[in-house]
Amino acid sequence: MSLYEILIDQWDSAAIRHRSPDALTALEQGHVLFMPRLKFATTPAEATLFTPAILGGAKNASYDPRTDRLGGTTLAGAEADRLRALMRRFSAAAADLVAALLPDYRGSVVQARASFRPAEIAGRATSWRKDDTRLHVDSFPATPSGGRRILRLFTNVNPEGRPRSWRIGGAFEPIARRYDRQLRMPWPGSARLLALVGVTKSPRSAYDALMLQLHDAMKADEEFQQRTEQTRIEFPAGTTWLAFTDEVSHAATAGQYQLEQTFLLPVAAMRDPDRSPLRVLERLKNRRLA
Ligand SMILES: [Fe+2]
Repeated sequence: MSLYEILIDQWDSAAIRHRSPDALTALEQGHVLFMPRLKFATTPAEATLFTPAILGGAKNASYDPRTDRLGGTTLAGAEADRLRALMRRFSAAAADLVAALLPDYRGSVVQARASFRPAEIAGRATSWRKDDTRLHVDSFPATPSGGRRILRLFTNVNPEGRPRSWRIGGAFEPIARRYDRQLRMPWPGSARLLALVGVTKSPRSAYDALMLQLHDAMKADEEFQQRTEQTRIEFPAGTTWLAFTDEVSHAATAGQYQLEQTFLLPVAAMRDPDRSPLRVLERLKNRRLA
């Protein structure tokens, strides 16, 4: 794993493609695309949103660009409108960037939810399963990907100039092999049952079931957390990064005030689908999983 640096400073520019011809290859090889000069600007009026008090009990405030709706915030009225406007602007910028940087994915990549994370990560009390300071790969319990890639764009908007600290682990396939024997095929009918009782919003594919088990197995494994090959990275305030977080093992250990946009990409749209977690797990299990 390494960072692949792209020295752009605009979210929407025809020049982006020429500055980063290998971005897609680097991304598909499991690198984090790091844009140290790409800052997301907020306005002075938006300073009132930069407090964890907007969250109530939620971990993040969320925004769905498909419906223009906010979630996870106690804000109402004009303040909610202010947050919605910020999120709408960020979601649009994120979509522009992905379209410019990864033109081969155009028409296939789907924009999902975005989030604003105003809470400090370090020292936050949570269960081990939800503890994102432990190395993990992303998998969504309620919204199965059905085998699609999870592509996430992050930008550090910390107003005090503090970095966001990550640990990044090794390649996906060796990690999947390490836990292969613990990853059990879901029993027939479980996908329909989970959707029926509302645990999932759509039936959970076998792939999603195995990825959730992998996510949990990594987080629960103290030896892995301590000893596995890993790199500490500090993303400075005013920088942006993009990665397939279903593949790149990551832990966010400290930081406050981040914007994140999630995209989903069908495996078939990849230049090299064989590298996807879906195909890796299918090779290990010797069957189709989604
Ligand atoms: Fe994550």
